[in-house]
Amino acid sequence: MVKIAIVGKGGVGKTTVAAVLARLIGRRGYSVIAIDADPSLNLAQALGIPREAADATPALFDEEKFIRSRTLLPGGAYRLNPKVDDIVERFGIKGPDNVILLKLGEVKKGGTRCLCPEYALLRALLSHLVLSRKEVVVLDMVAGLEPMSRGTARGVDHMLCIIEPNLKAIDVAIQIMKLAGDIEVGRFFIAVNKVRSNEDVEYVKRIVGGDKIAAVIPYDESVIEADKRGLSVLDYHPEAPIVTAVGNLVKVFIT
Ligand SMILES: Nc1ncnc2c1ncn2[C@@H]1O[C@H](COP(=O)(O)OP(=O)(O)OP(=O)(O)O)[C@@H](O)[C@H]1O
Ligand SMILES: [Mg+2]
Repeated sequence: MVKIAIVGKGGVGKTTVAAVLARLIGRRGYSVIAIDADPSLNLAQALGIPREAADATPALFDEEKFIRSRTLLPGGAYRLNPKVDDIVERFGIKGPDNVILLKLGEVKKGGTRCLCPEYALLRALLSHLVLSRKEVVVLDMVAGLEPMSRGTARGVDHMLCIIEPNLKAIDVAIQIMKLAGDIEVGRFFIAVNKVRSNEDVEYVKRIVGGDKIAAVIPYDESVIEADKRGLSVLDYHPEAPIVTAVGNLVKVFIT
C-alpha cells in the first residue's frame, strides 16, 4: 500500500522516528511491516520488542541457503520472480500495535551494488508487499547515501530524511534529496529532529527552505531515558513530546 523510507546521516534519530511512526500508523488500524535495513539491528528495541523475542528469529540475510534457493537457478542465473510471499511469515517478528519487524542483517560478501541476491530478494519482497497486501512498509535505512545506490529505496512512495539542526546533517540531506530524483521516489520530506529552540528551526529553514519540512521534533529527554532502560519511548512515556510530533507526521503519509 504505502512504502516509507527513513533516511539521513548517522545518529540523527532515524531508528527512533521510524519506530514511533510505525507504531502510530499501526494504531490507526494498518498492518505495518517495519524493516530494519541497518546491520546494527536496533529497530527491535525502539519498537518495544523484547530482546529474547527479537533474537529468536534470524535476520533474513543471515539465511544464505534460503536466499540462494530463492534467487538463483541451478545454473547460477538469477530467477526473475523469486518466491517471496512467505517471507514475512518466516522472518517477521510480531511487535506491538500491529507492527511486524523484519530484520535484514548484513550482506556477507559479493556485489557491492545492486546485483547481489540479497537485494534482488528484498526488491521482489517490497514490490510484492505493496501489490498484494493492505500494508504500510516503514524502512529504517542505513545511514548516509548508501541506500540511494543499492536500489532499496527505489520507488518508495515517501522518503523521510531526518536531520538535526547542524550543517553536516543538512549537507547529507541535500545530497540525498538530489539522488532521490534519480530513483523514482514519490515525495521527499525532511523532519528536523532534536530541536531545542525556534532558532534551530529558523536556521534549518534558511538553508533548506520551509517547503520540504514535514515535522519539527523536539529534543526529548524521554528518548534518552527510554534507551537507557531498553524500552520504546512509546512505552516509557506515551505522551512524550516526540510522540506528539511524530503523531502529526502520520497524517502526511496516511490519509
Ligand atoms: N528527539 C530526540 N531527543 C533526544 N534524543 C534523541 C532524539 N531522537 C534520537 N535521539 C537519540 O539520538 C541517538 C541516535 O538515535 P537513533 O539511533 O534513532 O539514530 P539513527 O539515525 O537511527 O542512528 P544510526 O545512524 O546509528 O542508525 C540515540 O541516542 C537517541 O536516543
Ligand atoms: Mg538507526
